Order: sequence, then structure tokens, then C-alpha cells
Amino acid sequence: MALITWGPILTVGHKEIDEQHQKLVALVNQLNDAMHAGQGKEALQRVLAELVRYTQYHFGTEERLMAANKYPLSAEHKAEHVKFVADVGAFKKKFDAGNATLSVEIMNFLRDWLGKHILQTDKKLALALRGAAPKQSVHA
Ligand SMILES: [Fe+2]
Ligand SMILES: [Fe+2]
Repeated sequence: MALITWGPILTVGHKEIDEQHQKLVALVNQLNDAMHAGQGKEALQRVLAELVRYTQYHFGTEERLMAANKYPLSAEHKAEHVKFVADVGAFKKKFDAGNATLSVEIMNFLRDWLGKHILQTDKKLALALRGAAPKQSVHA
């Protein structure tokens, strides 16, 4: 069963951000499924690495949008990204070294962080981007 169900609640109303969030949610679910299926370390490592890589790519997209639109809350928003990348990076390092295992707690942390960040921080950004991008709203 999916750890996170994608749906309208998680949609922020910005096409590129929503598409990337959907992919992030799919990767978290894939990692959760792989863990519950008892897959080996190498398989889990591959999904975890892809999740970390895609998260950084996604944060880069949002940070570019913030800079291009002179988003006033970009420092706070970026700080959340930085903290998450540091936390997940630290876990990945431990996992790769064989000093940590994936657990329900880790998966719940990923689910809760992603949900909270999307619902609060990213929604605010998407709202501002809609206001700042008249071209988009013409076609909406
Ligand atoms: Fe974000
Ligand atoms: Fe995001």
C-alpha cells in the first residue's frame, strides 16, 4: 500500500512543481514498498540514491523559480530545503556505510516532512508564483 496517496490536497497549482512532487511521492512510495518487501541493501540503496538526487533537482527548480520571481520568503523556504537535504544526506551516509537501516520511523519522517513542506511552504510559493506570472493565469 502506498505510504503517501497523491491527490488534490497535495496539489499546489503550479504545473512544474506539481509534476515534480508527484515523482517525489512516487519515489518515497517505491522506497517504502521496497523496504516492506524486504529487498536487499543494494536495491534500497538505489532507490534512496534516486530519491536524494531527485529531491535536490526539485529543490533546485523551486529555488530557481524563487530567485527569478524575487520571492520574498525564499530565505526561509531555502532553509527548510537545506535542513532536509542535510538530514536525509546524513541518513544516506549511515545507510551506505551499513550503520543504519530503513525503518517505519524513517519512512514516516519522509512522509511527514514532505506533506508538511508541500502543504505549507510550497503552497505559499505556488500562490505567489501565480500572482507573479500573469502569462500562466491567462492559460489557466
Ligand atoms: Fe520547497
Ligand atoms: Fe517542493
